[in-house]
Amino acid sequence: MKEAKSLRDPKKLASHIVSLPKSGIRDFFELVNSMGDVISLGIGEPDFVTPRHIREHTILSIEKGHTSYTSNLGLLSLRQEISRYVSKNYSVDYDPVKECIVTVGVSEALDLILRAIINPGDEIIYHEPCYVSYRSEIIMAHGVPIVVPTGPENNFMPLPTNIENAISPKTKAIMLNFPCNPTGASLDLSSISKIAKLAKKHDLIVITDEIYSELTYDGEHRTIASLPDMKERTVFLHGFSKAYAMTGFRIGYACGPFDLIDAMMKIHQYSMLCAPTLAQEAGLEALKNGKKEMLKMKDEYHRRRDFIVPSLNEAGLDCVMPKGAFYAFPSIKRTGLSSANFAKKFLEDHKVAVVPGTAFGSCGEGFVRCAYATSFENIKEAMKRIKIFVDRV
Ligand SMILES: Cc1ncc(COP(=O)(O)O)c(C=O)c1O
Repeated sequence: MKEAKSLRDPKKLASHIVSLPKSGIRDFFELVNSMGDVISLGIGEPDFVTPRHIREHTILSIEKGHTSYTSNLGLLSLRQEISRYVSKNYSVDYDPVKECIVTVGVSEALDLILRAIINPGDEIIYHEPCYVSYRSEIIMAHGVPIVVPTGPENNFMPLPTNIENAISPKTKAIMLNFPCNPTGASLDLSSISKIAKLAKKHDLIVITDEIYSELTYDGEHRTIASLPDMKERTVFLHGFSKAYAMTGFRIGYACGPFDLIDAMMKIHQYSMLCAPTLAQEAGLEALKNGKKEMLKMKDEYHRRRDFIVPSLNEAGLDCVMPKGAFYAFPSIKRTGLSSANFAKKFLEDHKVAVVPGTAFGSCGEGFVRCAYATSFENIKEAMKRIKIFVDRV
């Protein structure tokens, strides 16, 4: 008993971890899981199983005995394929030997780059609403998160002037995520050009999480790394979880200038050793032969987006048309409810789960996230129920 008590003593824990909040999504899904028969627009995860050819290739690679460690950086064959893929689809050329590292998802890549560049007290600028991990990842790396809020008035794109106003002598990097979780926003060429100019003027690193980039429905996705003189100051993060429906494989990668990748490699080498070999084999197959299946899933997300967004607007919840990813982020302000109360009441009264916008930062108040990574039938039913709910509140 005595021992158990002493383990709960916060003095035994690092203070920056004690003060770290738990993810707002997790609390909410404890509630969802305790109820049966819920339509979930909550989970940010493809509803598709990993395409069969990727699963079969992975099984075969295990049967062939590919079960040992790989190089710390990852299989060279995979890094070569990543380098070809990124060159072809994003117009940036990376040396697979020195400028690419295979990681345990984008999650690990993000952790590595932040730990590699942050000295305690360094500031990292990022835009909110954003992926739930960003703020905590910065804090865990002893950095200071500096928020640039975004809103529907600018289609959830961060204004370059707001980024410039957030820059201080302590700023180390600007972090971007487009298409964005939770808003589906994308950045146009003019915006990334202005942000690139700022990064060069203030000598900042840019960390760009482009995990949803294949799932771009309107316009062309362009990475900031491809702009003139940006490759040498940008770390491009990407992975397989979303477009290839491979969340459980835990595989991603980072490409960037040698000095940054090498620093990330040092941390990865001591903490992770290498990404799982079977997941690397799966990633290789996805990049070599996965385009057709990936495009099929993308078309289905596109069809769902074109249904869910007008349905939300018809229900009276103003929703900016997301350009990519699989999230809609409607305003619920006209209901007079807070985001948390909207999500709780809608769940209790109509058994549909959406995520309160505040889970993605305080400027997410007044919004909820609806993931359309669930079947068309579920989305149709959820939209019927949301209209009834909004009409009654
Ligand atoms: C913007 C963003 N980045 C990174 C991740 C994590 O990706 P991975 O599964 O590759 O670790 C997610 C997952 O939801 C995400 O939304």
